[in-house]
Amino acid sequence: MGILDKHAILERNATLLLIGSFLVVSIGGIVEIAPLFYLENTIEKVEGMRPYSPLELTGRNIYIREGCYACHSQMIRPFRDEVERYGHYSLAAESMYDHPFQWGSKRTGPDLARVGNRYSNEWHVQHLTEPRDVVPESMMPSYAFLKSKPLPVKDFATHLKANAAVGVPYSQEMIDNADADLRAQADPAVDTSGIESRYPKARIGDFDGNPQAITEMDALVAYLQMLGTLVDFKTYDEAGSDR
Ligand code: HEC
Repeated sequence: MGILDKHAILERNATLLLIGSFLVVSIGGIVEIAPLFYLENTIEKVEGMRPYSPLELTGRNIYIREGCYACHSQMIRPFRDEVERYGHYSLAAESMYDHPFQWGSKRTGPDLARVGNRYSNEWHVQHLTEPRDVVPESMMPSYAFLKSKPLPVKDFATHLKANAAVGVPYSQEMIDNADADLRAQADPAVDTSGIESRYPKARIGDFDGNPQAITEMDALVAYLQMLGTLVDFKTYDEAGSDR
């Protein structure tokens, strides 16, 4: 009896085939899943990642509230055409502090995972105010109203605490200084040494061009300007990274 004939027995008996398939799939499943229970962390460590500053986190909430993800993804896939257009492909670690993540699958507009530092603050404000002023063929909606919505600078600590509860490593010091750090990032007149040490690479300034008030526009632009900028890919070593 050849091996094919033996297989024919399985193929003719639905119950046997079902049991056989179940066994094979279970082995495959266990091999893939079991090791995950023994690993502390499945995300490779990458230098430079830090939690969002209070202003960036607020901007991120506005991004989610306004549904920007309906047209924009934040995940550069490891394909040549994507990497050439958007930059280094996204690393798992780059979205490990995102609750919820913003990977997305819909790209009516471009991927935004590395849009930080690509344009000036003025460009972003103008683009969000009236996209067609800077990109004539754009069909992105206008978000001009964000400029006239002031941010009430109080109680941002609760925000950080909520994220800490789901595992984002906000220290007590970050939580205690949440309101002060938010103000310091958007108002260059305030002492910025605290925020600079707590949130390395945080971009500081008056983002919306209106120094009189901290607005939702300030927060959203601060968020856009930091996207994809934390990991320094000049020093990131794929082969030598800690796996
Ligand atoms: C209806 C779809 C749609 C929505 C919703 C949308 N956008 Fe866009 N966005 C686009 C399109 C299309 C483009 C490309 C044309 C342009 O630059 O305006 C774009 C471009 C951009 C760019 C420039 C990206 C680059 O690399 O040039 C940024 C930044 C941006 N959008 C941010 C946002 C933010 C923030 C929101 C939410 C407040 C948002 N978008 C909501 C469609 C959308």
